[in-house]
Amino acid sequence: MAWNPNQYLKFSGHRLRPALDLLLRIPDLPARRVADLGAGAGNVTKLLKERWPDAEVTGVEGSAEMVAAGRKAAPDVVWQHADLGGWRPAHGFDVIYSNAALHWLPNHEQLFPKLFGGVAAGGILAVQMPRNFEAPSHTLIAETALDGPWRNKLAHLVTPPPVQGPAFYHALLAPSAENLDIWETEYLQVLTGENPVKEWTKGTWLMRYLDVLEGTEKAAFEAAYAARVAKAYPPNAAGETLFPFRRLFMVAQHKA
Ligand SMILES: C[S@@+](CC[C@H](N)C(=O)[O-])C[C@H]1O[C@@H](n2cnc3c(N)ncnc32)[C@H](O)[C@@H]1O
Repeated sequence: MAWNPNQYLKFSGHRLRPALDLLLRIPDLPARRVADLGAGAGNVTKLLKERWPDAEVTGVEGSAEMVAAGRKAAPDVVWQHADLGGWRPAHGFDVIYSNAALHWLPNHEQLFPKLFGGVAAGGILAVQMPRNFEAPSHTLIAETALDGPWRNKLAHLVTPPPVQGPAFYHALLAPSAENLDIWETEYLQVLTGENPVKEWTKGTWLMRYLDVLEGTEKAAFEAAYAARVAKAYPPNAAGETLFPFRRLFMVAQHKA
């Protein structure tokens, strides 16, 4: 998928908050090897390097555009241009961190134990994923995809939400965990500007659909979604658009 760092970073402040909330829940430990999975444009990866300056920090990222942005933002990080689906941790990491990325991967039942298996004894797996797929911002994407001349091209993308509930991840991680902290937070994001929820999803989930279409059809699909989502999230009297957004967090410490 063609990630656009500029579109994604339009909301970098709002997107940074959960990344920091996750980072701050990781206990102090003397890490030598740290990985950031789905590291994106590197703006969070560089904070991992700041927290563990003596560690080798590796950013694993599947998009060439994001890797290029990441290399600029965090030049002292080792960048791996790789698909996480086939990524195997080469050695035990003291910290495997992933913010807003693993929901792009299927088969969490296999993925999460595999990643936790790449964490050294006493080390940490720290993950944040959005769990907002049942909110209008996301359901209206599916609704629009299935209601237009583009239906045949887009219907295969309408799949069940990729992120499960907290108990699912607890069951996967608890057998190998010394400590396991799983929680959810719903942020009331205050956005400004023209149809900002459309602009938000255009940097992420809507891209899956836009990528498949071209030219006037792509523009018509985006406009049809824009009209629906603007109605679902009208601005208040102050011109602000309130966008509640739920996220799932987990910090798992591997058994010694
Ligand atoms: C929403 S961005 C998050 C970026 C960064 N972690 C942050 O917090 O700003 C998701 C990132 O995951 C990457 N990604 C998604 N699926 C991937 C995969 N299968 N392999 C590698 N990277 C992937 C995307 O390219 C994108 O840069």
